[in-house]
Amino acid sequence: MNGSINGLEIRIYSETDESAVVELWRLVFPNNPVWNHPESDVRRKLTVQRELFLVATVESVLIGTAMAGYDGHRGWVYYLAVHPDFRRRGIGEALMRRIEDDLTEMGCHKLNLQVRAGNSEVVEFYKKLGYRVEDHTSMGKLLSDGTNYQSVK
Ligand SMILES: CC(C)(COP(=O)(O)OP(=O)(O)OC[C@H]1O[C@@H](n2cnc3c(N)ncnc32)[C@H](O)[C@@H]1OP(=O)(O)O)[C@@H](O)C(=O)NCCC(=O)NCCS
Repeated sequence: MNGSINGLEIRIYSETDESAVVELWRLVFPNNPVWNHPESDVRRKLTVQRELFLVATVESVLIGTAMAGYDGHRGWVYYLAVHPDFRRRGIGEALMRRIEDDLTEMGCHKLNLQVRAGNSEVVEFYKKLGYRVEDHTSMGKLLSDGTNYQSVK
């Protein structure tokens, strides 16, 4: 899959990627809730399964991300993003395939993900990769007011 675009590399995030990742996320996820503070989310991920935080680069320019985790039962993926100028060239799929391979190698049997209501194009993307809409009610609860959550150095 990496051959579908010249110079594409998918690799584990490194600290020097932070500003490029934050810039990409602010562009691609402008409406994320305030508790999704990009710098803190990046730094927190480095403390838990940092090997499941991937970036895609073309000629060394960062143009994609995917962040995953495995809790011993299921895998989850977040922050899948491809820069708008590089979409529909197989990069999103390549990131997801790499996440799937890495999780499978860890013994993970099923990968779950959530798509915000109204993001129907992304649903089509995931369907193309074999994901199915499941009959679950998605629930969540904030465990703090977010004050300390955003202050990761
Ligand atoms: C979702 C996203 C990562 C896809 O990245 P991408 O690199 O453009 O995807 P790919 O080129 O690998 O697409 C693979 C296939 O998925 C399908 N697909 C991708 N984008 C699609 C769209 N907007 N509408 C319908 N189908 C789509 C197509 O079948 C495509 O193959 P094709 O181009 O040969 O037809 C990208 O659109 C993105 O960053 N979106 C905004 C961020 C976001 O919402 N992320 C998901 C959070 S849950």
